[in-house]
Formats: sequence, structure tokens, C-alpha cells
Amino acid sequence: MDHDEQKPKKLRRAVINGDVYLDGKPQPLDLIIEDEKIAGIVARGEAPAGTDVIDARGKLAIPGGIDVHVHTREPGYTHKEDLITCTSAAAAGGYTTIFGMPNLDPPTMTTEDLDAVLDLYAEKSIVDYNHNPAAKLPDQIAGMAERGVAAYKIYMVVDTGRSYPHPSSIGVHDHGDLYKAMQAVAETGLRLMVHPHDQSLMDVIEQSYWDAGDRSPWAYGKTLAAGDGMIWDTATATLLRLAEATGCKLHIVHVQTKRQIEMLEEAKERGVDVSSETNHWTIFLGTEEDIKEQGSFVLSYWVPPHHQEAVWEALRDGSIDMLSSDHAPHTREEKEVGWTDAWAAHTGTPGIQEQLPLMIDAMNKGKLTLDRLVELTSGAPARIFDLHAKGSLDVGKDADITLVDLEQEWVITNDDVESKIGWTPYDGREVKGAVTRTLVRGTDVYVNGDVVGAPGHGKQVGSQ
Ligand code: DOR
Ligand code: ZN
Repeated sequence: MDHDEQKPKKLRRAVINGDVYLDGKPQPLDLIIEDEKIAGIVARGEAPAGTDVIDARGKLAIPGGIDVHVHTREPGYTHKEDLITCTSAAAAGGYTTIFGMPNLDPPTMTTEDLDAVLDLYAEKSIVDYNHNPAAKLPDQIAGMAERGVAAYKIYMVVDTGRSYPHPSSIGVHDHGDLYKAMQAVAETGLRLMVHPHDQSLMDVIEQSYWDAGDRSPWAYGKTLAAGDGMIWDTATATLLRLAEATGCKLHIVHVQTKRQIEMLEEAKERGVDVSSETNHWTIFLGTEEDIKEQGSFVLSYWVPPHHQEAVWEALRDGSIDMLSSDHAPHTREEKEVGWTDAWAAHTGTPGIQEQLPLMIDAMNKGKLTLDRLVELTSGAPARIFDLHAKGSLDVGKDADITLVDLEQEWVITNDDVESKIGWTPYDGREVKGAVTRTLVRGTDVYVNGDVVGAPGHGKQVGSQ
């Protein structure tokens, strides 16, 4: 007898009794999972006998979240976070795929650096992953594509007065260097993610606050938002123009001004292949009150109300394509110093675990529709970064499934935080909407408060 025929048939799983988000709406369906894929979709109650059953009564199954902007911190900054704690937070937050960022130690700039990082994910990641290396050294770019990366990253920012999170080794703000990097990335056909920033404007503006003896978090916030957002707007204009000239596919991170949105819309209309994201801290934090109350703990950046409203509108109308977390864990100590010198505090805001519940809460408050929520957190990132097996619950796709309770009311607290830092800027916030279970390719990675996924379960995803 053929050896294969003696193997027991692989157990099927089924998600039953709940609703499934399919074709743009929740429907009373059961999902059948086989060999890590969605193998069938049947009417509720009709999943075949003999399957391992997940009871989703009262829950909605949505496609697993895809977060293309995550600061994993490993290697180099594992006192903040590591790949196990980071992907645990992802699993608990309903995310089934993440892309890590290159501001590590060593920063991911060569094929050797990339190979070493990919080995770490293979050993430790609980969810599926890819890694965006820095497009800093043009001669390394083609070789990195051969390793199956889905995108590259450039930071136009270099920190002044601290050495992290934007070390000078990795920053690219000279326009000629940007142009060369974009030409090299265009050759690969992959997308370049860019943190837009005008470093020379930043240098001048921050100096004026320092000269006045003001190094407070509020001064930091005002510096970055100066001129109604000119640090962001001028960089975005340059990037769009260079993308048009080089044919490089572009992805702009943390869109946060009205003018940026207008420029993105106009560029898309002219046929520039540009996508964009905003992040939880732009829409749920970053007000003047937040900064005055929580200081560096919520910096990231100041987003004035008229810009925040424009970002919400863009999330609704599709001129911003996706929501990524920009999960950026730093220890309490690294934030605390900000009360005396905000330029010494490490900037960035954690949130991969809280982002989806916050979005469901926003949906419950009428800020956006379920359709847009699923598109922003899964459909668009899958499509734009060519993750063909991800992004919907259709038959044949990976069984990356997040069960959510749209009605559950609860309070976010530091106690629930899976991230190594043990704090969240949302501590004490009441939300209506929760993630109750997360499956990556049919395997449970998070169930009702417990991360159950095994390190090493995650696989590299990519366009090649
Ligand atoms: O404020 C930030 N923090 N911006 C980034 O681009 C990186 C991030 C981090 O790594 O902490
Ligand atoms: Zn970032």
C-alpha cells in the first residue's frame, strides 16, 4: 500500500454558528478549513460532521489583520520588544500578518542583514510576516528582492539629540540619494515605503524652540506640526514627483495632513502608483490635550483637529488606503525623560494590540463602516502588497481568521498588554468591540485572552 494512504486524513476545522464577513457584509455562514486554507463556505449549521469545531456564536469572522508597519525591535532592541512578544501582541490584536521595519541593530541594509533577520522570524514569529529592508544601499536592493521581501523602507528623518529610533546610518534625505534609491527599487517592481520628512526644515524649527529654552513635549509636537504640516507636505510633494519620474511604486506612511491627502488624490488621478496609510495614533491620540497629559508617551506627533478630521474623511472615502499600527514600543523610562527633554525621549507609540478594538469602537460610534474597516485592515494591504493568499475569507485563501465581538464593552488596561513594555497609551479607555480569537492558516494563535500560538508557526509572505 502506498505510504501516503496510511496517513490519517487531516482533520478539518470549521468555524460555525457565527457570521462571516463575505462579499462586503456579514452573513450567517460556516467556514470550513482544510490544509491551512478556507476550503468551503456553507450555510450556517451545515458544516459537515467530523470536523474540529470552533463555536463562533455571537461573533463575526473577518479576514485576519495585515499590518505592514511594525517595529519589532529584534535584533538590537530586545529590551523594548522581541519577535515573540511583538507577534503575541499582533495575535491578541487580531493581526495575522505583519511586516517588520529595518531600524534595528544592525539596521537591515544588506542581504546578509536581511537573511539574519528572516532567520529570527522563522524561529520566533507566531504570525505570518515579511520584513522591509532599508533601501539605503542601491547595490543591495536587487539581492533583497530575491529573498522574497514585499517592500522596502526609507526614513527621510534622522534624529537630533538621540540615537534612536532614527539612527543616521539608515536615513536618506538628500534628494539625489532618494532618486537613486527609487530608481533601484523601480527595477524590482516592488513598493517603497517612505517615512516623509523634511530634515532641513526640522533642524531650523527645533533650533528655535531650543534657543528659547523649550524642550517640552508640547514644543516637540509643535515643531513637527509647524507651518500647518510643512515638514510632511514638502516631503510628500518631493516623493510623489520622484515616484512619477522613476516609476517607483510608492507607499507613504503616517499620512496626517489635509494637504498630503489632496496631493495623494491628485497624484493617483494622474496615474502615479502611490498608496498610503495612517496609524492608530493619528486618529485616536495626538491631540493637544493628549500631549499635555501624557507627554512623550503619546509622541509620535501632534495631529491638530482639522488634520485629524481630514484623515478620518480620507479613511472613509478611500483616499488613504490602509491603517497600519506603526507599533513602536519603548520602555517607560525611555518615555519618562521626555518630561524634561522631549528630544531625548524615544518617539513612537505602541498599539498593534489595541488598534482593531479601537477601530470597531469607532465604527460603533459611526466614524466608519464595517466595509471600510475590513478594507483598511486587510483587503487593501493584501492587494497593494500583492499578498495573493490573504485579505479575504474567500475559498482558496489562507485561513487567517479573526473573530470579533462587535458588542463587547470593556476597558483597555496595561495588565492585558502582551508587548514587552507592559504599557499602552490607551490604558483606561473604554471601548465597545473586542477580538476574541485569531487563527493563522487555520491554527489558533489567540483564544479569549490567551496567546496560544507557537513561535515559529509564522511563515514569510511575499509577492515572489
Ligand atoms: O516616532 C517614530 N518611532 N517614528 C518612526 O518612524 C519609527 C518609530 C520607532 O521605531 O520607534
Ligand atoms: Zn514607523
